[in-house]
Amino acid sequence: MESESDIKTTPRGFHCVLCKVNVPNQSSVDQHVKGRKHQTLSNVRTTRKTQEQHSVFVSGIKPDISQADLVEYFQKFGTVSDIILDKDRGVFAIVQFSETDSIQAALSCIEHRMKGLNLRVKPREKKEFAYIPKKKCDLQNLQQVLDRLKPQLCQLPSVNAQMQYIESRFQLGDAEKKARNLLVQLLQEIFVEFFPDSQILQFGSSVNTFGIHSCDLDLFLDLENTKVFQARAKYTSEAAECMSDDGRSEDSILSDIDLSTASPVEILELVATILRRCVPSVHKVHMVSSARLPVVKFHHRELNLQGDITVNNKLAVRNTRFLQLCSGIDHRLRPLVFTIRYWAKQKQLAACQIQSEVLFVLKLKGNPSGPGPLLNNYALTLLVIFFLQNCEPPVIPTVDRLKDMACEEEECLIEGWNCTFPSQPIAVPPSGNTQDLCTLLAGFFSFYAKFDFASSVISLRAGRVLPITDFLCNKDNYNKDKDQEKNTKPQQSGPKLGPLNILDPFELSHNVAGNLNERSQKCFQKACQDAEKYCRSLQYLRKSTKGKMWGLVRLFTPDGGVEQTTPDELNISIPFKSFALPEALRNQLHVAGDDFRSLWFEKVCTCVQKVFQSVLRCELTLSAGFGVSEDLAADVSVEMETSSGSLNTSANDSLNSPTNAAQVGAKRRLSASDETSLSPQGKKARMSKRGKRELPYWLWVQKHSVWAGRRKVRREIIKDADLQPEGSCMDLETRVTDRIIEKEEELKEPLEFKVQPHVVGGTENTRTVLKLEPCSDRAGVLQDFVHFLDAFLPKMVESLLEKEAGGS
Ligand code: UTP
Repeated sequence: MESESDIKTTPRGFHCVLCKVNVPNQSSVDQHVKGRKHQTLSNVRTTRKTQEQHSVFVSGIKPDISQADLVEYFQKFGTVSDIILDKDRGVFAIVQFSETDSIQAALSCIEHRMKGLNLRVKPREKKEFAYIPKKKCDLQNLQQVLDRLKPQLCQLPSVNAQMQYIESRFQLGDAEKKARNLLVQLLQEIFVEFFPDSQILQFGSSVNTFGIHSCDLDLFLDLENTKVFQARAKYTSEAAECMSDDGRSEDSILSDIDLSTASPVEILELVATILRRCVPSVHKVHMVSSARLPVVKFHHRELNLQGDITVNNKLAVRNTRFLQLCSGIDHRLRPLVFTIRYWAKQKQLAACQIQSEVLFVLKLKGNPSGPGPLLNNYALTLLVIFFLQNCEPPVIPTVDRLKDMACEEEECLIEGWNCTFPSQPIAVPPSGNTQDLCTLLAGFFSFYAKFDFASSVISLRAGRVLPITDFLCNKDNYNKDKDQEKNTKPQQSGPKLGPLNILDPFELSHNVAGNLNERSQKCFQKACQDAEKYCRSLQYLRKSTKGKMWGLVRLFTPDGGVEQTTPDELNISIPFKSFALPEALRNQLHVAGDDFRSLWFEKVCTCVQKVFQSVLRCELTLSAGFGVSEDLAADVSVEMETSSGSLNTSANDSLNSPTNAAQVGAKRRLSASDETSLSPQGKKARMSKRGKRELPYWLWVQKHSVWAGRRKVRREIIKDADLQPEGSCMDLETRVTDRIIEKEEELKEPLEFKVQPHVVGGTENTRTVLKLEPCSDRAGVLQDFVHFLDAFLPKMVESLLEKEAGGS
């Protein structure tokens, strides 16, 4: 059996050469072989083998030769079942026959002359089927594109020139735009037959000036003026009949619907059918109805283009106009966005497409083993614009200011949202900011490297961050905020809060980064911190005279050249997660306003103490400085006042010169009471009103290695008691500790340690940092304990906060 030969014995068990995975024992091997992955790959291999045995390789063709030409020529040797044309250059093809005998017939023919060409026909090479895991394949392709880019970038004289090169190298070419427009025209002609007076409008990267080769074609089918759906319309393109998958005519498969009551999904189902039946070269049509806005996806064979069609998406067309306007306002935006998008793609932070001359087009929408859900390009572009709004002086005005610059005819209200801005960039006075691209790029990284994502909501409308507390108490305050912006749409729920909150500039109830999880947000910030550090080095600024990598090349190289920041080993962070807080606590924090950090910190400290004491059975030998929450609050707010004062100031300080930008990542102060150290902006923090006071702390003793083997014990307890792991988290974990203490021997020497909590935020992500220090650790176990606590403590605190809030 083929599956048997796929499994090889290794010193540590087995290895499946087909799926490239290690399997520990025979029973796992049996399961693996029956599993979906192995079965799918096995089927693909069989199909490929069959194709190989039924096809010939044909070279010597020209790009103007079509599939139909090849079918016509080769069918004299037997029935042709498929033709695969090399799309990029059109110089070779694979001709597949239904019968293997046809191959011999084709190969034995001495001369193949077709349309004046002399074709060469060869047997297919016998290649071993090799599965390349997607991630590896994506990374390989990215690497290959970068490898081709490196020499060109390295020889340019400056980072500015490199950024401009990136823009020109990747931007959508005129010919590509023309081809897209033709396709849109064709779609328009077809759709108008079924939906009279409808309009197909492009939005997104195809037209927002940030499009790269092979980017998606985002389309909006505007049915505002369409009163009826003509199910019986006959679109009679010559190509139409050959597009019908099953030979039926298009009018027989479209049902009549009432457009006034039809849901977007129902309309899109018709759109999908029309695409399948009436549009030449369109295939792989399918609907994604689970998306925020349902969408029909399709692929256009000839243009090798991925298309998306949505209905009721007027706001996207308008925000595309907004991006076009921003590009026109300042010429530095485009190279900056192209560079940052490329950087984000290399670091696997954002969904991007790249064009490779010989390889398939990639779309990295997510990566299960990478940083998690990715930033979409729209969100990334908004981050760049927001940064430019916060430069000193601003490069791009706030959306509110743009609204004021518009004239009466430009007023625009869509779905109740105010979308007014000037139609032409000329209406916007030029910026007084003269920083070059190189400085702005470094500034971008510096800006987000020390950004307090946890407690901020990014608003391009206001051009500043809005406090998260404004959004914690859902509707009331949110609507108040909207009223200020003269939006009239009633009773909207607030944006979905997450680890990264970017309000759409127009649809203010939408967080465009709402799909991100903590991991992706952390990865983004970490990548900014690493890049910021690199941008302070000479290798960023100066061209290497020895032909070494410099400037953007090192920045783009995955993990290459950029020094990695290492986390503090004995610190544990408990992040402020606005989105995961219980309702009651959200309301309290909302009321606390600017003081929310100290209130939250107090609650976290109470939970931390409970976890150490009641769950992990640590003995408390001393607790000092707690219960003085007012002092703490005062110190915390003093720090916030000094460090977060205004985001504009922090960005400005770092952006005035490359050198200043470079200093931004210098020593930073973590603690609210460490008054002598520098804030990230290099400003001296004001002295605490009460002079220097030590942070509160606990001294704990732990006599057992309560962190070791917890998972196994937990499983046993759940099994014994038939308990659900969720729900009684605190009880369960306490029982786990008790069982470990009962069963395992005491540590040779008890571990004595100090835990000092403090809260940070304003100029970095809001979180509680616990600093752990050994007082006596002769058994050398503190590292292990900290490693365990790092994952355990934040989760426990989260569920305790919820429990406490439920009880209060
Ligand atoms: P994309 O994130 O796909 O951006 O959103 P893009 O610039 O087209 O990049 P590609 O396609 O990945 O290369 C496409 C468009 O969808 C709208 C915006 O108009 C954006 O330009 N959009 C996207 C929203 O309105 N809101 C969102 O949250 C995301």
